[in-house]
Amino acid sequence: MCGIVGYIGPQQAAGLLTEGLARLEHRGYDSAGVAVLGSRLQVVKKAGRVRDLVDALPKRFAGKVGIGHTRWATHGPANDTNAHPHVSADGRVAVVHNGIVDNAASLRERLTEAGVELASDTDTEVFAHLIGLSTADTLEAKVVDALSQVEGTWGLAVVHADFPDRMVVARNGSPLIVGVGDGEMYVASDLAAVVRHTTTVAHLDDGELATVTATGFTTFRQDLTTTTTTAREVDVDPSAYEYGELDGEPRMFTEIHEQPSSVERALRGRLDERFGTAHLGGLNLDPRELRAIRRVKILGCGSAYYVGQMGAGLIEELARVPADAEAASEFRYRNPIIEPDTLYVAVSQSGETIDTLLAVQEIKRKGGRVLGVVNVVGSAIARAVDGGIYLHAGPEIAVASTKALTNMYVAFSLLALQLGRVRDLSIADGKRLIAGLQALPTQIEEILKSESHLEEIAARLAEAESMFFVGRVRGYPVAREGAQKLKEISYRHAEAYQTSELKHGPLALISESVPTVAIVPKDELTDRNVAALHEISARRGPLVVVTHPDVDLGELDALRVDVPKNEVELDPILMTIPLQLIAFHAAKALGHDVDKPRNLAKSVTVE
Ligand code: F6R
Repeated sequence: MCGIVGYIGPQQAAGLLTEGLARLEHRGYDSAGVAVLGSRLQVVKKAGRVRDLVDALPKRFAGKVGIGHTRWATHGPANDTNAHPHVSADGRVAVVHNGIVDNAASLRERLTEAGVELASDTDTEVFAHLIGLSTADTLEAKVVDALSQVEGTWGLAVVHADFPDRMVVARNGSPLIVGVGDGEMYVASDLAAVVRHTTTVAHLDDGELATVTATGFTTFRQDLTTTTTTAREVDVDPSAYEYGELDGEPRMFTEIHEQPSSVERALRGRLDERFGTAHLGGLNLDPRELRAIRRVKILGCGSAYYVGQMGAGLIEELARVPADAEAASEFRYRNPIIEPDTLYVAVSQSGETIDTLLAVQEIKRKGGRVLGVVNVVGSAIARAVDGGIYLHAGPEIAVASTKALTNMYVAFSLLALQLGRVRDLSIADGKRLIAGLQALPTQIEEILKSESHLEEIAARLAEAESMFFVGRVRGYPVAREGAQKLKEISYRHAEAYQTSELKHGPLALISESVPTVAIVPKDELTDRNVAALHEISARRGPLVVVTHPDVDLGELDALRVDVPKNEVELDPILMTIPLQLIAFHAAKALGHDVDKPRNLAKSVTVE
């Protein structure tokens, strides 16, 4: 979603800003802009891609202080005017903003009554005017003045022609980091924007602001009292954040193929083979506390929610604790009952999804205990929770999530194992699952070898305007994730259904132009699943069946995808891998930009 980058130092800012913005492209955006402060404040902004912005920059665009932004439209359509930065009426203040101003309508009305001519439809513009109109002496006090009138969330960066030696940045619900360079400083909403220049960063806390000059930064609260936030070296490989294609392949492709090693990373040091259990030190729960848990509630959005559903199934099966998953985006709005002996788990790749973060805050407000299952270290959700499991998937650049989801599943398997082993899961079953987990990397590799077969299937599916993905019990969230992946990057309609529910309505839609992708593992439901496939076939519905080698499909006319067999509890994740490749190749066959699907953001930081 929206991205912020800022620079102050001895170099010309424009090139550094647009390069930083290009590194945020994967988050999803519809317009971009930059402001630089030289002899005067200059702003250029454009709907479209960062390269359109670069083409629009004038030859003389000098300045060693600047801010840039990629916008994801919320208030007002994606056009040049609504793109950030926004400027004050006198043209001396420029701001970029991530988040939402909840009282934008009343602030805009007040400003209009005061004679300000608003240039855009955005909520952000009010910041520029409020700062411009403030009579306070310092830039810091002007920004604080403006913030005190605003309700909502912000990651904010401000430059002012009267204070050319500094930027002021602020965070409230939307991430903001300060990067320390050698005689120069950066700000950004995401490490990816600055990692090529520095890995020494400070994460601002909610409610915190910072003054950033070329030589350092100081932090303070909205009452102007100082805080002690310091910069730390983050242990990341900058090359992992390189944007664009890698070896000529889209990032989604590389990330799918990285899964054998990213799964290994998620398992490393966390398995106790001797006692058939897992060690998740970050849970901050001792065995007695683990035993006292009576229910598990998993919250996530989109694909993370679907993996949460797989995780809930695993926890019920292995630990025999009632567990369910719910869309975090809905949870908060039904005044949820928070129980002291329920373990709440927030699952998120980015750790910044606002709906999931707000669900965490609601639970904490009511005294609940929340764990995070998160990929991005130090992200908002990771910092808000009481403990958790990091995914160790490495940076995920492609908008469509793959390797992070697989590692979420692995994380839930480890949690289920540890919860199970303090209850009734036997040591033998624990060992059986550990062996299954250890087999995953090799089995994923095996699935990846069948890529050309999956590419052919994808080309066939891409011809259909609409299709079903079906599965039962463990297979249902797999079907949901398969449908999600296909629709988000190929723009084909794909609906997930429980196989058992087809006969209660949607069978009416089956025809030779509506294919079905069916998840049919070798388990206690295989026969019933196969029977349902016959009903689809009888209505001439084309079938793709993701199954295990020893499942007998009889006379069924189906394209078959065989996945190596693991333990029944771990089969779902292996069945997800071919669906990633099918979605990828369908999107490619249709000529879509796989890494930057339309209308989809990498981290959804607005409600
Ligand atoms: C699907 C996808 C989205 C995310 C969802 C949650 O490929 O990427 O559905 O899964 O927006 O994002 P995180 O996991 O960052 O909270």
